[in-house]
Amino acid sequence: MKQHIKSQAKKRIEKLREVINHHRYRYHVLDSPEISDAAHDSLKHELKQLEQQFPEFITPDSPTQRVSGKALDKFKKVTHVSPMLSLEDVFSIDEFAEWEKRIAKLLGQKRVLYFGELKFDGIAISLLYEQGTLVRGATRGDGKIGEDVTQNIRTIESIPLKLEFHGNKKYDKLLGGTVEVRGEVVMTKKAFKKLNKVQKKKGEKLYANARNLAAGSIRQLDPAIAASRELSFFAYALLTDLGQRLHGEEHDLLKDLGFKTDELARMAATKDDVADFYREVAHKRKSLAFDIDGLVISVNDSELYKKLGVVGKAPRGAVALKFAPEEATTIVENIIVQIGRTGAVTPVAVLRPVRISGVTVSRATLHNMDEIGRLGVNIGDTVIVGRAGDVIPDVREVVKELRTGKEKPFHMPTLCPVCGQSLKKGSGGVLIRCMNKECPARHREALYHFVSKKAFDIDGLGPKTINALLDEGLIQDAADLFSLKEGDLVPLERFGEKSASNLREAIDASRRIPLARFIMALGILHVGEETAIDLAHRFRTTEALKKASLDELTAVPNIGEIVAKSIHAFFRDEHSAALMRKLKHAGVTVVSEKGKTGTKLKGKIFVFTGELKTITRDEAKALVRSLGGTASESVSARTDYVVVGDSPGLKHEQAKKFGVSIMDEKEFLKMAK
Ligand code: IVH
Repeated sequence: MKQHIKSQAKKRIEKLREVINHHRYRYHVLDSPEISDAAHDSLKHELKQLEQQFPEFITPDSPTQRVSGKALDKFKKVTHVSPMLSLEDVFSIDEFAEWEKRIAKLLGQKRVLYFGELKFDGIAISLLYEQGTLVRGATRGDGKIGEDVTQNIRTIESIPLKLEFHGNKKYDKLLGGTVEVRGEVVMTKKAFKKLNKVQKKKGEKLYANARNLAAGSIRQLDPAIAASRELSFFAYALLTDLGQRLHGEEHDLLKDLGFKTDELARMAATKDDVADFYREVAHKRKSLAFDIDGLVISVNDSELYKKLGVVGKAPRGAVALKFAPEEATTIVENIIVQIGRTGAVTPVAVLRPVRISGVTVSRATLHNMDEIGRLGVNIGDTVIVGRAGDVIPDVREVVKELRTGKEKPFHMPTLCPVCGQSLKKGSGGVLIRCMNKECPARHREALYHFVSKKAFDIDGLGPKTINALLDEGLIQDAADLFSLKEGDLVPLERFGEKSASNLREAIDASRRIPLARFIMALGILHVGEETAIDLAHRFRTTEALKKASLDELTAVPNIGEIVAKSIHAFFRDEHSAALMRKLKHAGVTVVSEKGKTGTKLKGKIFVFTGELKTITRDEAKALVRSLGGTASESVSARTDYVVVGDSPGLKHEQAKKFGVSIMDEKEFLKMAK
């Protein structure tokens, strides 16, 4: 009888292990659980109890044995079967192209196919399996000798304790010997945030990033700590020959063996494919569950990869195509103030030039005195400067530990450094303005704005040329641009006959301008692109807009009292009236919006989010307006449609919240047809 119970228990234990392992794989590797966490825990609980009753049936690959063993005094050193190498870094497609040239030359062949995958920002780990059972997990160490972290590795649920085939193929060679798998242990951004929240609650030091925390967790001597850290493992290399001929096949095999692999990984036949992949991933980066710091691009053909060999500690056949860091440290050499076209005074840090995301940055905005106070920045400080996308670089933090005592605080001047008139505090408090409408600095900025893309959009006329024209005394104001002659331009630096004639033509072509862009060009305080468009729609002609009363202005959707006042005052100012007269005289014709609009989308409010494929967002907005609709920047209950492109932002979520109709680009274009 007893024997019978025992064999029953053994069977049940084996069955439970199989089922638990299956659900572990569904949950931790495939991210698609079939049963609830509670049910899964309940199965584990039963297994644990049975194993307690019958300890003779405990095996090292049992799901209950993930956390086992006592805390260690120190880790054992292990020698890697083959060294764990690192990769050469490149930071742009141009630098990748140089790498490509080099390897093509070495191989003596032009066309080499690549395999691209994410470069996980975690800790590199080597796993050894004997007869299919996990026997060792080790860190990279110095590449030759690492640390035995098996106890901690075993706690990671996405790592199979036993290799099993999940694909169609069977790999007989596997069954006998040693299999080595390498990959990266990472922590999800979510788990990282959660842990930091706990730290904060406990009043303890916050962890800097998920990578450090993942690495720190793997190097804990007590496996219970690692077990509590919600780590994952992505496999990216199979060192054992199971018949793979391509690096891509390695990924397939690893997946078949039950590992979590990079789902975005793919073949890239050419440099252009690599560039596309790089762009796509850069876009997706923020929405990924894990931190990545770039791509790994490898020569896909394993034979060629081997042939390329190793130089120093890095293989020649693969390269890390990293995302250019968006932050760097440098020194604040001075703090100056810049006067904007509306007179707003912005303190700006003059920096020792530093490269950030591929461009050299020598200035960064400090926004206002409040921000300077918050940062505590002094002249001479070492600071962290950031630059996200096309945004103006800004100072994010002061590295106070590097102070020498020679740093000097900055004081906001009381007089405009350009025109000498006194600076005034705006109504909001933080903002300081130069009130002199004739301040040369304001004037210069207003001219930059006048020719910019959203205003007169004069091709080939940027700040540098405007500066030259002003400095040479060739123009006094915007209207003078229209009477420039080719002969005036040729002697300017960087100009020749051809470019002079091109610019002349571009200026001529810009004379006819739609009302909205004309309003924009005037640079009225508080009037941005959307407001300019709304005004153009409502008033249709410059004359009507000029005459508009305060009440009529406030009645325009999205225009409040402050904006209305600013517009009203602008058209009653002698200075602006003179400029408008002069522009008219110079042959500038404002094209009225009248009659141009369709009515198909009349009264409908659209918001766009994410990247559109066939048209740009600006074009889509223009299309909406040309059909009588409104393009808005923010989602509210009044929004009629949210058009969602690739990698949409918060607006997509807001649309769902407000129950606004959501459509994709195709549906939108169909509607607008
Ligand atoms: S392949 C020769 N693939 O990046 C090295 N490495 O500098 C082969 N890493 O320490 C590595 N994601 O920890 C490879 N998909 C990936 C990776 C990856 C992250 C790390 C790895 C290594 C470092 C290379």
